[in-house]
Amino acid sequence: MDNKPYLVQMSGNGVHGKSTVNAKSLNMTGVSGKGVHGNGIHHVNVNGSLYPAKAKSRRQRWEVKPSHMANNTLNPIRAIVDGMKLTPNPDKPMIALSIGDPTVFGNLPTDDAVLQAMKDAIDSQKYNGYAPSIGYLKSRQAVANFYSCPEAPLEAEDVILTSGCSQAIDLAISVLCNPGDNILVPCPGFSLYKTLAVSLGIEVKLYNLLPEKSWEADLQHMESLIDERTSCLIVTNPSNPCGSVFSKEHLQKILKVASRHCLPILADEIYSDMVFPGCHCPSMASLSSDVPVLSCGGLAKRWLVPGWRMGWILIHDRNDIFGSEIRQGLVKLSQRILGACSIVQGALESILNNTPQSFYNSTISFIMSNSEICFSELCTVPGLNPVMPSGAMYLMVGIDMDHFPDFKNDVEFTERLVTEQSVFCLPASAFEYPNYFRIVVTVPEEMMVEACGRIREFCQRHYRPRSRDSNDLDQ
Ligand SMILES: Cc1ncc(COP(=O)(O)O)c(C=O)c1O
Repeated sequence: MDNKPYLVQMSGNGVHGKSTVNAKSLNMTGVSGKGVHGNGIHHVNVNGSLYPAKAKSRRQRWEVKPSHMANNTLNPIRAIVDGMKLTPNPDKPMIALSIGDPTVFGNLPTDDAVLQAMKDAIDSQKYNGYAPSIGYLKSRQAVANFYSCPEAPLEAEDVILTSGCSQAIDLAISVLCNPGDNILVPCPGFSLYKTLAVSLGIEVKLYNLLPEKSWEADLQHMESLIDERTSCLIVTNPSNPCGSVFSKEHLQKILKVASRHCLPILADEIYSDMVFPGCHCPSMASLSSDVPVLSCGGLAKRWLVPGWRMGWILIHDRNDIFGSEIRQGLVKLSQRILGACSIVQGALESILNNTPQSFYNSTISFIMSNSEICFSELCTVPGLNPVMPSGAMYLMVGIDMDHFPDFKNDVEFTERLVTEQSVFCLPASAFEYPNYFRIVVTVPEEMMVEACGRIREFCQRHYRPRSRDSNDLDQ
C-alpha cells in the first residue's frame, strides 16, 4: 500500500504554501477551479472532504469572550459620563453644554452651497459605487488644491480621504506606531488618541498644556517624555478642549523639539482656520523645514457637517523621510475598510470651491461672541476661572475646589450642576485634567446666557470662603 503523501495543487498561485494529503485514492469530484481559499491549493482528505479528518480536541462548553482589543478599547468620556448620576431639575429645562456637535440645536446650519453640492452629487448618480480606498482622484486633488500653499505644497497623491477625522487619526497612529511604542499626547486633550493607542498596545505619554500661558505646551515636560520608543508627537491646534490657538513662534518651538528627536508629527488640525479675527493659525506643515507631518482634518467642524463623516490626511514629507514606505503603509491601512462616503467625495470639490467666505466668517463671529458672553459672565462668578479661547468651539473653566467643599472633584461639581440647575458641562477629568470643566460654545446665544446665569446661582450657593480668606476679611 502506498502511503506517501501527495501534493494536490490546483491551478492558480498558492499563497498558503504546499499542502500535503495522505491519500490512496483521491475523489476530486466537485473540487475545481478556485477553491475556498481562492488560491488553488486544497486540503483534500481520503474521503474527498475538503478538510483533514485529523482528530481534534473538541471544545466542551461555550466560551465566547470579547477580544483583548475590544477589552482594551476604552472611551474616557463614556467611562466618566456613564458613571455620573445625571438627573436634571424637573423645574428647569435641560441645557447641554457638553456635546461637541455644532448641529444639535439647529442654530448653525451648514451653507446652502454645501447642501447644493451634496444634492448635485446624489442627482448625478455617479457616486453610488465603491470609491478607491484612498478616495477619488478628483476629490483628493480638490483637497490638495484647497490646502496647498507655497511653504507646504500638496498634490493629490499627498491626500488620503477617510471616514471623518477620527479615521484619519486612526490610520496615522497605526502607520507610525508599533505595539510597545509610545506617543506624546496633549493634556488636556481629545480623548480619541488614547482610546485608539491603548487598543493597539501603544503607550500614551501626556505632555502638559499650561492654562496660565493660554494653554501653550510645556516644552520642557514634552521633551523630557521622549525616549527611543517614542514614535510620534500629537499636536492639536486649535485645541479641543481648550479652544486655544498656538502662535507661530510656539509652533516653531514644538517643531524644534520634534526635529531634535527626529519625531514625526501628527497634527490634528480639524479646527484649522476656526480662529477668532486677529488671530493667525498657520498649519504645522507650513512652518516645518524638516519634520514630516501627517495633518488630519475634515469637514465636520468648519463646514458644520460632522455626520457626513468626511476626513483626510495630508502627507507633508519635507525631506522624503516618510518616503514611499509610510505612504504605502497608509494605502494598505486604507484598504482594510473603505473610508469616506462616495457621495460626499463626489460633493467635495464643489463644497471646497463654492462655500462663500461669509459662511466661515459668520460661524466664527457667532462662536467668538458666545465665547465672550460666557467668559465675561463666568469671570465674575466666585470660585471659577474661565480661560478665554481664541478659536475652535470650546472654553475651559477652572474650579477653585477649595472654595467648594461640598464637592470632591469636577465630576461631583458638574453632576450637582445638573441636579440643581439642569446644566451639563463635561468634567475635564474626561480629558485627564481634573478640576476644570469644558463648555461647548456653539449653543444658541439665549441658552448660553441662561446657562451662565444658572452656573452663577449654583456657585453662589455652594461657594465658601477659605478660612484664611475669612481671617483676611476679619482683619
Ligand atoms: C480634536 C478633534 N479631532 C478629531 C475629531 C473627530 O472628528 P470627526 O468627527 O471628523 O471624526 C474631533 C471631534 O470632536 C476633535 O475635536
